Amino acid sequence: MIAHEFNIPAERLPALLCAMPKAELHMHIEGSLEPELIFALAQRNGVALPYADVEALRRAYAFTNLQSFLDIYYAGASVLLKEQDFYDMAWAYLERAAADNVVRTEMFFDPQTHTARGVDIQVVIEGLHRACVDAEAKLGVSAALILCFLRHLSEEEAFETLEQALPYATKFIGVGLDSSEVGHPPEKFAKVFARCRELGLHLVAHAGEEGPPAYVWSALDVLKVERVDHGVQSAKDPVLMARLAKDRIPLTVCPLSNLKLCVFPDLKQHNLKTLLDAGLVATVNSDDPAYFGGYMNENFLQTFAATGLTAQHAWQLAANSFEGSFIDDAAKARYIDRLNETFARFAG
Ligand code: ADE
Ligand code: ZN
Repeated sequence: MIAHEFNIPAERLPALLCAMPKAELHMHIEGSLEPELIFALAQRNGVALPYADVEALRRAYAFTNLQSFLDIYYAGASVLLKEQDFYDMAWAYLERAAADNVVRTEMFFDPQTHTARGVDIQVVIEGLHRACVDAEAKLGVSAALILCFLRHLSEEEAFETLEQALPYATKFIGVGLDSSEVGHPPEKFAKVFARCRELGLHLVAHAGEEGPPAYVWSALDVLKVERVDHGVQSAKDPVLMARLAKDRIPLTVCPLSNLKLCVFPDLKQHNLKTLLDAGLVATVNSDDPAYFGGYMNENFLQTFAATGLTAQHAWQLAANSFEGSFIDDAAKARYIDRLNETFARFAG
């Protein structure tokens, strides 16, 4: 894809970041559960929560690393029991995404978080999928699902989850790998990813969020992923950077997540610009927006304000999001046309 030269006055950049069409490639639907919805679902389902109210829950959102977040995130998901709960959660996110001019989203879900509590995988997938279908019809947002295996559990349990999910295989487009990274390298899941590859599923994995560049290498070479989720630690390894650039492997970067989980001490020190300037297919994403203080546009606005990225970077990030998505080439070209039309409207 050819980068475009646009003459965008600096004062128009924030509005342009919000208005430009974009794809979101890294968000966990359970991470979009706002405290208000957690309490509403708890009441609807008679689930007791260890927090007095919404404010008390929000006060607990002071994370020091990935694990300190995951403990609260899994507790929040305990209110999800019925198909309508999964629908309502996904619909709330999809409406919010549409407001940020997200035109395509590939949403992660964690079935094991729910099946471990006795919720049937059918309930999870049908509820989420119905919201995706409605998003296309009612919001004009193209939405798809990616099933994530929890890496703190065993590969055998991942295989069991895959078996349970296969009757609904038309309702998700790929598999991913998430949860506690350090100590659970990608190669732990080599066999189940090989099976998913045979099945024709798309493959992605979290790697290099807190874990070392070696985990990104094994996500690429052992799991054979098409995208790397986070991947920011790759900047420590110049040979890996060259490989990611050469093979145009997208990195789904999540700046506000990295800030809240202390991967970078502040946004000014985030390495997104380094990744883009090295020619990597980096993208901006919200990860767990209800927990990290912002949906897509907030991620763009805060990151650009802190790091001095330009309109050219904005175009590149949006174009990368379409290039990295699992839509066909004709759809990618249509979205790039819409992107260029938006930039032309903002040009001086
Ligand atoms: N699950 C939800 N958010 C996650 C993240 N940022 N890293 C790993 N697993 C996750
Ligand atoms: Zn994530």
